[in-house]
Amino acid sequence: MLSDYQPTFEEISEILNRDTSSDDKLKSVMNSLRRSIPHYDWVGLYLLYDDELKIGPFSGSPTPHTEIDIDSGICGACVREEKTIIVPDVSSDDRYLACSLETKSEIVVPIFHKDEVIGVLDIDSHRLNAFSEGDVSFLERVIDLIKKEIKEIS
Ligand code: SME
Repeated sequence: MLSDYQPTFEEISEILNRDTSSDDKLKSVMNSLRRSIPHYDWVGLYLLYDDELKIGPFSGSPTPHTEIDIDSGICGACVREEKTIIVPDVSSDDRYLACSLETKSEIVVPIFHKDEVIGVLDIDSHRLNAFSEGDVSFLERVIDLIKKEIKEIS
């Protein structure tokens, strides 16, 4: 239920009101999501430049995938298909690009601006089958809240 996430929405609003850069705000939002939602273990933005995704603010272990061609990965598939992708078990999806050996499941949500994908929000979990439609509604709402800051850095 979206109401379960009310404290997180309040924290995000507080972060967005801070007098600091868009980059700092987005980094704090990524940290807030990872800290407050137990099944979120890596949370990050990738921004689209031509046919390549480049990593933006993130929270979690550094990933080797700082640039992802849209022909590869779950992130690339999300851009091409222009829809949210939930992977319940990354070990059985050939598209998956590994960031950490601990990751068991993943959700990637597209970020739209004027009907075009401008990036994705990527979340990894150490739990199998961690993501549901509740995460999709929640993350779409989060993206709406932070979209203005994403446009500032893209
Ligand atoms: N797993 C992603 C790559 C990004 S890392 O998880 C942070 C993918 O398959 O596109």
